[in-house]
Amino acid sequence: MGTETISSRAGAESVRGTYALEAIDVTKSLPLGRERIDILKGISFTINHGEFVAIVGPSGSGKSTLLGIIAGLDVPSTGKVLIDGVDITKMSEGQLASVRNSKIGMVYQAFNLIPTLTAQENVEAPLYVGKHDGRPSERAKAMLDLVGLGHRLRNRPNQLSGGEQQRVAIARALVTRPAMVIMDEPTGNLDKANGDRVLEMIRDLQSQTGTTFIIATHDPNVAQAAQRSIRIVDGRIAI
Ligand SMILES: Nc1ncnc2c1ncn2[C@@H]1O[C@H](COP(=O)(O)OP(=O)(O)O)[C@@H](O)[C@H]1O
Ligand SMILES: [Mg+2]
Repeated sequence: MGTETISSRAGAESVRGTYALEAIDVTKSLPLGRERIDILKGISFTINHGEFVAIVGPSGSGKSTLLGIIAGLDVPSTGKVLIDGVDITKMSEGQLASVRNSKIGMVYQAFNLIPTLTAQENVEAPLYVGKHDGRPSERAKAMLDLVGLGHRLRNRPNQLSGGEQQRVAIARALVTRPAMVIMDEPTGNLDKANGDRVLEMIRDLQSQTGTTFIIATHDPNVAQAAQRSIRIVDGRIAI
């Protein structure tokens, strides 16, 4: 249930011929005492609409920093990030907030669910920001059905397993029908069986909804679930 409404929207507003995402010579440097640390040293890549891409690299290589920048949560020191051909690094806070709410879903390693809300309320929450079609409660239920949690609507996060919590977080990221879902180590806190289940679900959702998935991981086995990997070592793209 809910699959058709989702597939009809993902990427629908994008301009034909543009990439879902284009990073152009992105750098990030931060002051560290009197020194400066260069975290990202000139990263360029493109991701097509509907692709499932892994950003891989050892811990500390700059994956989370890069994800924060492509999700518009952080700004690069230099360089551009185009989403559907539009440079988000030039946007005002208000424009950016609207792009984040309508086009991007985010999933974190630590799930980041609101502990006092039920699974259904957590998934509904993003629908009360910005404009969205349909009844939030119906949409949240349909999304939880899609991730196999239709029977856990009224459970709070501490009444769910790690794998279930991560599936709620994925439902929450998808409920606004974003064209792109960005995940930072989404299986990092899961055991292998639950991690595999989440990855299998991402692959199913990708083929059913046409959503673009970008997932950062330090685990080569997780990267294998993706269609393509972009490898980062020490703030640079490595072959
Ligand atoms: N706010 C910060 N201040 C100083 N150093 C940082 C900050 N954020 C990240 N770093 C450093 O940047 C490097 C890349 O970090 P990160 O993007 O978290 O890598 P990854 O996600 O690949 O493990 C690390 O060496 C980290 O210590
Ligand atoms: Mg990280």
